[in-house]
Amino acid sequence: MRGLFSRKPIAALLAEGENPEGLRRALGAGDLIMLAIGAVIGAGIFGSIGSAAAGQLGPNGEVVRVGAGPALVISFLLLGVCCALAGLCYAELASMIPQAGSAYAYSYATLGEAVAWIIGWDLILEYAVGNVAVAISWGDYLKSLFAGWVTFPPWLTTGYRTALLSNDPAVHGLLDSAPHVAGIPILVNIPAFAIVAFITWLLLHGVRESARANNIMVAVKLVVLALFIVMGATHITTANYHPFAPNGFTGIHQGAAIVFFAYIGFDAISTAAEETKNPQRNLPIGILGGLAICTVIYVIVGAVLTGMVPYGELGRAADPLAYALNATGLTSIAKIVALGAIFSMAAVLLVFQYGQPRIFFAMARDGLLPKWAARVHPKHRVPYATTLLTGGVVAFWALIGDAAETYDLTNIGTLFAFMLVCIGVMVLRHTDRERPRPFRVPFVYVVAPAGAILCLVVMRGLPRLAWERFGWWLLIGIALYAVYGYRHSTLRRGTGPVVVEPPAPIEKE
Ligand code: ALA
Repeated sequence: MRGLFSRKPIAALLAEGENPEGLRRALGAGDLIMLAIGAVIGAGIFGSIGSAAAGQLGPNGEVVRVGAGPALVISFLLLGVCCALAGLCYAELASMIPQAGSAYAYSYATLGEAVAWIIGWDLILEYAVGNVAVAISWGDYLKSLFAGWVTFPPWLTTGYRTALLSNDPAVHGLLDSAPHVAGIPILVNIPAFAIVAFITWLLLHGVRESARANNIMVAVKLVVLALFIVMGATHITTANYHPFAPNGFTGIHQGAAIVFFAYIGFDAISTAAEETKNPQRNLPIGILGGLAICTVIYVIVGAVLTGMVPYGELGRAADPLAYALNATGLTSIAKIVALGAIFSMAAVLLVFQYGQPRIFFAMARDGLLPKWAARVHPKHRVPYATTLLTGGVVAFWALIGDAAETYDLTNIGTLFAFMLVCIGVMVLRHTDRERPRPFRVPFVYVVAPAGAILCLVVMRGLPRLAWERFGWWLLIGIALYAVYGYRHSTLRRGTGPVVVEPPAPIEKE
């Protein structure tokens, strides 16, 4: 049993980060802020914001969640505080343990192997499953962009589960009207599949090229959101702000629980720690800087959007920002925003498709996943086996999946990981007091517990089904650990059940 709580010495983690055969250190602070914004602004603000404001009904008219209404701006502020607290904790751990693997690596050093495995497994929900939702939302905005010019057959742009779960008769009806093969309706989302395949191809060609592509996409998304804000602000009807919070705190809370998706990603840059120059300085700047910029943008977008149209209408469209612009007569701006959304979400896909293979890579290096998953391409220095695996799974799921269903699953998994990171930072302050901390969380015993509690509060706003699915996901993960990771862990096999070796002092750069 004690073996389950084996902790990986931080010195070993740091040594792996210096491995000349490993990944290439190519990213600076500016690249990291761009990566953070690239990961953060995407389907959450372009897609999930509609259900957060308006609420959501299931296929039989049952209430899945109630909407925040214009009080959505309060949801954003609440989430900004929650993520800033968690972000500070991420920054301390990421600067102390600058290694690929994010919360997985941190929890291995602080909370032991079993918890680390659970976190690594859980992060699949954030990265891979999250990307399924983003890819589907990307497809929705592609349709929005071409609306009026090109009509795609709906059965080639709608996933089977979207039709199954939709409350809209036109979409649900596709189950009958789509072509059938052997009695099964053929409902596939080709655009979502294609964008994931393209991004995977890009990543296989190395980090430097991908970071440059990301920088261009981030610039485009900032310009487009600024355009939405400036043009939308001229079409605000103040009556739309009444009632401000139609469902009281429950609406703000449940709205926050879905639109939390818009904040996911600032932590993803910690998975690039092994590829970052001077990570001690650059990681905290990247994480907190990116988060601050995004929070300001979200609050303004939320305020403008709910002022443009009655909040209840926002749940009808899969492309709420374009919908609001069209509804107020700004049709050409709607096209530009749809184009920008496509770029924004491609950037999100890029960062997550980049992060997931690196978490698998770190887990495989530790023996918790098979060795082939840790293979690095000799020329491009990317973990190509896991990049291909991630691309394949995400592309297939996006082909038949539903966005709304995956937002909730992603959010619960991510909030759980954030919570454990907040706890981990406190544990490490006790178990490894002396280690230099290039970035220290101020008032850690206030910030870290408050962060953990706020994450739990936001999680409680998610529907029951998300909790059930999350429970099953964890059970499957535990079973896999029992049959594979527990036996193959290099830490447990190589050094005995419990590692108590004091870490070597490290030099401050
Ligand atoms: N925060 C990212 C998005 O909204 C995941 O797409």
